[in-house]
Amino acid sequence: MEKLLHIIATPRAQESRSLQVSKSFLEVFTKRYPECHVDELNVATEILPALTVKVVYGKYVLLGGGELSERFKHAWKPVIQHIERFLLADGYLITTPMWNFSIPYPLKQYIDIIIQPKYLFRYTDKGVEGLVKNKKMVVITSRGGDYSQTSPFHAYDFQEPYLRAIFGFVGITDITFINTQPMDALGIEVQRQKIEEAKALAQKIAEKF
Ligand SMILES: Cc1cc2nc3c(=O)[nH]c(=O)nc-3n(C[C@H](O)[C@H](O)[C@H](O)COP(=O)(O)O)c2cc1C
Repeated sequence: MEKLLHIIATPRAQESRSLQVSKSFLEVFTKRYPECHVDELNVATEILPALTVKVVYGKYVLLGGGELSERFKHAWKPVIQHIERFLLADGYLITTPMWNFSIPYPLKQYIDIIIQPKYLFRYTDKGVEGLVKNKKMVVITSRGGDYSQTSPFHAYDFQEPYLRAIFGFVGITDITFINTQPMDALGIEVQRQKIEEAKALAQKIAEKF
């Protein structure tokens, strides 16, 4: 692997539980791939392009099979830069908390920017075709509550199913989740224990990534 794109969606820096787990993943990963460049994009702290009228209109031009004319070029320049940065990676690490049962809004904004026809997917006679092929993804999340399969709140997890759906749509189907939970609901001891468990799992997954 030559390039890993690490997309971070928490603004909490050193306080972040999900980032602590990602750090453990990266410790093992960087030993395994010492030559690999880890490109870090924090969508929670960097300013992302807005989905302006011209960006949205341009999307419909592409959906109709057309090319972006001169009048879209300026608005689309930062969008295409993000798409190219995304496509340059051979693999992806997403570090994200759960916010209101789903993903934080800056991560949704990033997804709305990069998931574009012609670049990440296209429509064919046989249906939709994802254009991001043979790439792996690891998603490290943390949640205040517990949304695991045996929890009564499992059905409230719109984070993992959404991320699997949207990245599967563009062709990334090899996705491993490490969900660090519960972080707030059962106190500090459980929090510490669950972070340690998630770190150990992250290191194990990094060995095979
Ligand atoms: C705006 C906001 C919304 C949140 N919504 C949820 C939620 O729906 N369910 C949940 O279990 N925890 C929720 N939390 C708690 C975080 O998911 C939890 O504290 C997580 O560990 C934070 O990750 P981080 O430390 O990496 O930022 C929310 C936190 C914030 C700031």
